[in-house]
Amino acid sequence: MAEDRQVKVKLTMLMLLLALCLLSHGVRNVCCSTVPENSTDMLALIDFKAVTTDPLGSLSSWNTSIHYCNWSGVTCNQKNHGRVTALKLYNQGLSGPISPSVGFLTFLHTLDLSTNQFSGQIPHLNNLQKMQILNLSYNSFDGVIPDTLTNCSNLKELRLYHNLLNGAIPREIGLLKNLVYFALNNNNLTGTIPPSLGNITHIKEFFLQENQLEGTIPDELGHFSNISMLGLGTNRLSGTIPVSLFNLSLLQGLHLRANQLSGSLPSNMGDRLSNLERLYLGQNWLEGHIPDSLGNASMLQDIGLQSNDFTGQIPSSFGKLSSLIRLDLGLNMLEAKDSESWEFLHALENCSALQVLALSNNQMQGVIPN
Ligand SMILES: *[C@@H]1O[C@H](CO)[C@@H](O)[C@H](O)[C@H]1NC(C)=O
Ligand SMILES: *[C@@H]1O[C@H](CO)[C@@H](O)[C@H](O)[C@H]1NC(C)=O
Ligand SMILES: *[C@@H]1O[C@H](CO)[C@@H](O)[C@H](O)[C@H]1NC(C)=O
Ligand SMILES: *[C@@H]1O[C@H](CO)[C@@H](O)[C@H](O)[C@H]1NC(C)=O
Ligand SMILES: *[C@@H]1O[C@H](CO)[C@@H](O)[C@H](O)[C@H]1NC(C)=O
Ligand SMILES: *[C@@H]1O[C@H](CO)[C@@H](O)[C@H](O)[C@H]1NC(C)=O
Ligand SMILES: *[C@@H]1O[C@H](CO)[C@@H](O)[C@H](O)[C@H]1NC(C)=O
Ligand SMILES: *[C@@H]1O[C@H](CO)[C@@H](O)[C@H](O)[C@H]1NC(C)=O
Ligand SMILES: *[C@@H]1O[C@H](CO)[C@@H](O)[C@H](O)[C@H]1NC(C)=O
Ligand SMILES: *[C@@H]1O[C@H](CO)[C@@H](O)[C@H](O)[C@H]1NC(C)=O
Ligand SMILES: *[C@@H]1O[C@H](CO)[C@@H](O)[C@H](O)[C@H]1NC(C)=O
Repeated sequence: MAEDRQVKVKLTMLMLLLALCLLSHGVRNVCCSTVPENSTDMLALIDFKAVTTDPLGSLSSWNTSIHYCNWSGVTCNQKNHGRVTALKLYNQGLSGPISPSVGFLTFLHTLDLSTNQFSGQIPHLNNLQKMQILNLSYNSFDGVIPDTLTNCSNLKELRLYHNLLNGAIPREIGLLKNLVYFALNNNNLTGTIPPSLGNITHIKEFFLQENQLEGTIPDELGHFSNISMLGLGTNRLSGTIPVSLFNLSLLQGLHLRANQLSGSLPSNMGDRLSNLERLYLGQNWLEGHIPDSLGNASMLQDIGLQSNDFTGQIPSSFGKLSSLIRLDLGLNMLEAKDSESWEFLHALENCSALQVLALSNNQMQGVIPN
């Protein structure tokens, strides 16, 4: 009798355990081939929570006594019978991998998990055809960017910066034709910049700095006719700056610092890039004269041409830049020997906002004018 009762107790405990187990993960696989899609959204969220480490209790509202559309960070569209349209868990102290089940939230518009400590691979999100904003920035994702991401054809913002992503940028990334904002900077990406990117003609801001990209800058980036910010600095890019880039007349920031770029700058550069505010070309192998026409780009505030092989005189036209704050021309082979070649210094008197003027390590001699 006593033994019988013990067996019963054990069985009950086993069943309880099984029920708990099903609740916390496997439900989808066991029972749900016929449930409405809004319930699969809930199950996907339960899967997401099950593998997430949540030390601050940010997901404590994610329990069955509350409708999942009211769970913190979850937004639903009631018109679509409670399908999840946004998951925003910015800066919640979350860590662990992202459950691949997130890829089943097929009505998702926005996935913002930025500024947490999520790690592991970015899961396949290729069924998220409605997704417009993907922000996984400031996490610890590693591994490669899945090729299948190129199927999210409605993406407008792709923010994967400040992770540990490696491998190459998917070759067909240019299929994401609706991108306006593209930022994969501060990762460990290798390989070359895919020319297919030239198909993303609506792009406004494009950032790949602080990676390990090599090869040349593709001519196709010259198709970014609406771009205002282009950042490719701190990589291993070589060859010349494609002439097509000097057609991007809406550019405000051009960051190509710390690469191995060679060749000279076109003499009409300042006339063609007339909206430039920040120009960072330092730490490359650029040569030739600094174009006089830079003085025509009247919004320039910050110019870094340091640590290149520029020769000739410093243009007096810099004196026309009334917003200039910083001019760094150090570590070049610039010359000043007579009063005419020191004229630029007099011209700079007009730049009343100037805070930094760096000219060290050049070939300047004679007397600095009073
Ligand atoms: C569910 O979450 C709500 C809100 O955070 C909380 O008040 C409630 O105690 C939770 N219920 C359970 C059963 O954990
Ligand atoms: C979410 O919470 C609000 C306020 O408590 C409530 O009015 C609403 O009905 C809840 N939504 C769902 C889908 O249960
Ligand atoms: C799920 O969708 C069904 C119809 O497809 C609807 O009747 C039900 O109210 C929805 N559930 C929620 C929680 O919105
Ligand atoms: C891309 O999305 C479409 C539509 O959802 C789907 O039919 C197709 O299988 C997906 N392709 C890949 C490679 O995931
Ligand atoms: C992530 O993207 C959202 C939407 O664009 C933005 O509001 C948020 O500031 C971004 N977070 C970071 C860390 O960039
Ligand atoms: C980046 O990649 C290089 C070479 O592939 C490797 O040596 C280095 O450890 C990686 N750095 C990080 C932070 O993953
Ligand atoms: C750009 O798109 C066109 C048509 O949409 C396609 O034929 C071409 O192959 C694409 N170019 C690249 C480099 O992907
Ligand atoms: C360029 O930007 C403007 C203003 O935001 C917008 O109206 C226009 O449609 C854009 N053009 C392209 C090709 O994306
Ligand atoms: C630059 O733009 C001009 C005029 O729009 C065009 O004729 C020329 O082919 C473009 N140059 C490059 C290298 O894209
Ligand atoms: C641009 O600058 C150059 C040299 O400083 C000058 O000759 C030229 O006339 C300027 N162009 C315009 C459009 O102001
Ligand atoms: C400095 O400013 C004055 C007054 O605006 C102007 O006359 C002069 O030509 C400027 N000098 C230079 C070198 O641009």
